[in-house]
Amino acid sequence: MKALILAGGSGTRLYPVTVVVNKHFLPIYNKPMIYYPLSLVMLLGIREVLFVVNPEDEENFRKLFGGGEKLGMRISYTVQDSPRGLADGLVLAEEFAEGDNLCMMLGDNIFFGHELVNIMKEARRDIEENGGAYVFGYYVNEPRRFGIVEFDEEGRVVSLEEKPQKPKSNYAVTGMYFYDSHAIEIAKNIKPSWRGELEITSVNQEYLRRGNLKVKLLGRGFAWFDTGTHHSFLEASSFIETIENKTGLMIGCIEEIAYKNGWIDKDTLLVAAKSLDKTDYGTYLKKVAEEEIF
Ligand code: DAU
Repeated sequence: MKALILAGGSGTRLYPVTVVVNKHFLPIYNKPMIYYPLSLVMLLGIREVLFVVNPEDEENFRKLFGGGEKLGMRISYTVQDSPRGLADGLVLAEEFAEGDNLCMMLGDNIFFGHELVNIMKEARRDIEENGGAYVFGYYVNEPRRFGIVEFDEEGRVVSLEEKPQKPKSNYAVTGMYFYDSHAIEIAKNIKPSWRGELEITSVNQEYLRRGNLKVKLLGRGFAWFDTGTHHSFLEASSFIETIENKTGLMIGCIEEIAYKNGWIDKDTLLVAAKSLDKTDYGTYLKKVAEEEIF
């Protein structure tokens, strides 16, 4: 399985903050937003990642991650010339995927919770063994902001709708999707929605129609943030700050994960620590290298 991270889009909902800066570079507490979805695919053990980026941001993404060498990964980029929608990201990933299964993450989604990585591993295993699509539902207060999934009394998925005026449930589909190799063909054949975007919900609807969609609910023990508004941005930052300061452990520290995965050695980690000298982040990496943090 390979991973696709969507980090393009217009970011207009965060204006004026994002007029000149892509939101994925902005901090969620002490690190760029984009570290969080990247860290999850790394925890899943995926080493090959493609970022979908806007033309004006490609250079900065390359500055941040290069080809992934410093993380022991293979990171590449594809430019989306205009924000045609999430499903367009799948179309752009065709060459990269080479017929493999994909884990697709939205660059502005942040997840946290006990057993999260095991749940993701289960989704990966399921797709590798059975094919289809596997997504996650989460109970939300403002269902009109999201893709919404409706269940019948037996818990079977009945419908999916993107940003419905009259939501049929409060379960949002989160920005973490697992797909077999059919996803790209499906994405190529969907039509733009009323808002002119190629919706990921249309891809998921097609899997549902084929009887090949699984939706797993993430319960109350999970935190999920779509950081697409100023409020949720701040909420996510406060949340990460609280957890990190309570535990002394970082969330979304990509160098730590690369080291613990065995993808980089101690010297490489120490070089990363040195380049961030005099920051809490650099001090933390040094502690990881010295095995003061498990
Ligand atoms: O966060 C979960 C929700 O994400 C789902 O419930 C919805 O079904 C799904 O459509 C999506 O809704 P949003 O309105 O929140 O998507 P947004 O436009 O914020 O884009 C999500 C991410 O994808 C963001 O990191 C930017 C990136 N993106 C977006 C578009 C439209 C791209 O890379 N290219 C694009 O064309």
